[in-house]
Amino acid sequence: MKEVTFYPICAIEDLPPGERLFIELDDDPVVILNVDGSYYAIADVCTHDDGPLGDGDVEDHQIICPRHGARFDIRNGEVLTLPAVQDVRSYPVRVNNGMVEIGVEE
Ligand code: FES
Repeated sequence: MKEVTFYPICAIEDLPPGERLFIELDDDPVVILNVDGSYYAIADVCTHDDGPLGDGDVEDHQIICPRHGARFDIRNGEVLTLPAVQDVRSYPVRVNNGMVEIGVEE
């Protein structure tokens, strides 16, 4: 099993409920979302046509790609509807010492 290393990204005050934060992680664009106090992180690249995904509307735990409407589960990156057929990468998120941290498999 691969080790997961957590990296601090921002203070929890900087990512209140309903907000999202866009970062680069090893050159990969990632969006971190705070949905009702729970944090999620997925790749900011839609698997359908590589469009930016992170600006999409969020309904329950689904994010809707702004380009063609594919839906993904923000909890695990699972693809839910066409036109996408592949999951997006998701990252574990935790709060530690007042910081939002993202986990990366090393
Ligand atoms: S780029 Fe996301 S559904 Fe087409």
